[in-house]
Amino acid sequence: MTRRRQPLKRQDPSLPNNNILIVGASGSGKSAFLRQTVDFKQPRIVAWDPEEDYALPRVRSIEAFVKLAKKAGFGPIRCAVTVPPTEEAFEQWADVVFRIAHAAAPMTVIADEIADVTRVAKAPPNWGQVSRKIRKYGGTLLAITQRPQEADKTIMNQVEYTWCGALKTQASAKYMAGEMGVPVEQLQDLKNIHRKQIQYWIRKGTETAKKETIKF
Ligand SMILES: Nc1ncnc2c1ncn2[C@@H]1O[C@H](COP(=O)(O)OP(=O)(O)O)[C@@H](O)[C@H]1O
Ligand SMILES: [Mg+2]
Repeated sequence: MTRRRQPLKRQDPSLPNNNILIVGASGSGKSAFLRQTVDFKQPRIVAWDPEEDYALPRVRSIEAFVKLAKKAGFGPIRCAVTVPPTEEAFEQWADVVFRIAHAAAPMTVIADEIADVTRVAKAPPNWGQVSRKIRKYGGTLLAITQRPQEADKTIMNQVEYTWCGALKTQASAKYMAGEMGVPVEQLQDLKNIHRKQIQYWIRKGTETAKKETIKF
């Protein structure tokens, strides 16, 4: 009798949620935090990278990303996508990302400056799907924005961690104070010393937010 290997299911609802929303003004330490927490050498990592921030092999068209993803399937893929940040391109990117996600093949997904390509009222469908389901499909999502009050609300409700660095506007600070459960003056009391240290708040689930420091 031949033993057939059961194909593993693409989704596994028991997978943990490590999704994180990263919010902060330019220079607040978002990239520094990512460099510290994300393994950029891992076999499966894809980024929406309008500012060319991440040290990953880069493609400059959605077509090139589609090609790469088709070749990769559920296998290794390391890629940052840098194209003009339109909602349409971001939706295409999100569609491809979801297609290659698999519970048995962990993948890190980075989406930078989502406020440029999503809407407050409702996440565009493919991005909404990534936000809501990627965890079950083996993904860890890191969504980044400088303007949280302009990003879609879906992501706020889907992340397990919220990271908040220094913010530029009172509107952002007020908004994030609510999200983090930290008084606005306290949230903004961060000591960033150029080239020496950055500070930020981080909240896990409904736990109390904590202030942390990265020293360089
Ligand atoms: N490797 C490093 N060594 C020293 N300082 C650093 C390093 N990375 C970042 N910084 C400091 O942290 C600050 C935040 O930078 P960055 O993480 O790029 O901000 P963001 O991504 O939020 O725009 C910079 O102004 C810089 O002073
Ligand atoms: Mg950055």
